[in-house]
Amino acid sequence: MPSRDAAMPDVIFPSLLAANSLKLGEEITAVSHAGIRTLHLDIMDNHYVPNLSFGPHVAQHIKQQFPKLLLDVHLMVSPVDAMIEAFAEAGATRISIHPETTQHLDRSLARIQALGCQAGLALNPSTSLDTLRWCIHRLDFVLIMTVNPGFGNQKFIPDMLSKIKILRQTYPTLPITVDGGVSDKNIAALHQAGVTQFVVGSAIFKTKDYLETITHMHQQIEK
Ligand code: DX5
Ligand code: ZN
Repeated sequence: MPSRDAAMPDVIFPSLLAANSLKLGEEITAVSHAGIRTLHLDIMDNHYVPNLSFGPHVAQHIKQQFPKLLLDVHLMVSPVDAMIEAFAEAGATRISIHPETTQHLDRSLARIQALGCQAGLALNPSTSLDTLRWCIHRLDFVLIMTVNPGFGNQKFIPDMLSKIKILRQTYPTLPITVDGGVSDKNIAALHQAGVTQFVVGSAIFKTKDYLETITHMHQQIEK
């Protein structure tokens, strides 16, 4: 499969939750050949969210086998602090946490940065943007959930578009990552609303040709 032009911006982060878990290595190789440089890892504990995914050892094995790949780790676990340590140790590049999963949000975000990772706050659909007010100084990015956390292949919640527009107006330079139900049908509108990075699960891994799918998504973003 021809590799894509590596000059493509690193803005599409495939969510490994949607990949075939019996062929993770092949799936990661396939999206890497499509020019992907960052993977999104959804870590779920069946406590904060009603689902269970994988632990730090998977992140470690990915980094060993694909050392150049960056890992965008989305922690949907509570309490979160021990997993911050474990995934930073495993080689995470970015770690996002939900405000509800720590007793001391400022301290947890500061710890992510102290460990050398970019720190992100993951806001559920009904969580107010006010949550950012007193921790913005600790953030490298924000993760806007456009589905309720816990599962892939859910329907995008359209009201989140206006939430993203308000966020962009309030924080003009803050990197915004969108997560949940993103596809080639809504990625252009999300980009126009101010989104800078796109987590995409089923809209990539349920297609036949990842190179074609991801190239098409880039074309939609650059439209
Ligand atoms: C949901 C996760 C998302 C999800 C994205 O809790 O945070 O990353 O796996 O998958 P799709 O793109 O299929 O909605
Ligand atoms: Zn996620």
